[in-house]
Amino acid sequence: MFQAIYSSEHFLPVDSRGYSPEFRTITEGARRRNEDRQITGFLICASSWFCQVLEGPEAHVMELLERIEDDPRHHCFQILQTQCTRDREFPSWSMAGVTLSSSAIVLQLILLERQFGRRHPPRDRTASELFDLCRALSAAASREVAPAFV
Ligand SMILES: Cc1cc2nc3c(=O)[nH]c(=O)nc-3n(C[C@H](O)[C@H](O)[C@H](O)COP(=O)(O)O)c2cc1C
Repeated sequence: MFQAIYSSEHFLPVDSRGYSPEFRTITEGARRRNEDRQITGFLICASSWFCQVLEGPEAHVMELLERIEDDPRHHCFQILQTQCTRDREFPSWSMAGVTLSSSAIVLQLILLERQFGRRHPPRDRTASELFDLCRALSAAASREVAPAFV
């Protein structure tokens, strides 16, 4: 299994809660296409940045990373880590998309606890910090905050 994590920044227009309808478009399209390619993962859509974990067959993940990098909806695309793993970290999500703003208080707290916020793009964060964040949000989502998902 091949796994990659990247971060990027965006200027998509967001509402007062930091939500953009484009998040839903991106996430729904991703889910549809990823299922066909055995790709799973986790996508955080914050009000000015994205962070995504992609996992699946190496060729498929690499091809997708190239496509995502070229996507004009974001910039400062930066791959933080790639690695081979035995198992999937996010087997149940063909692509879960979580937004900081549609948030349930739980999500806000998890982000704040880790000092992420809309003014703090993840460019200085390490891959393992961002991984931990994805894991924590995924666990919170499985427990109780499904409505926060787009
Ligand atoms: C932050 C972000 C995450 C994305 N994640 C995925 C993804 O997981 N899977 C996917 O197929 N497309 C994803 N996309 C969309 C791709 O960039 C691209 O638009 C899509 O794959 C269609 O590519 P095509 O027009 O070349 O067929 C994402 C785009 C952005 C901006």
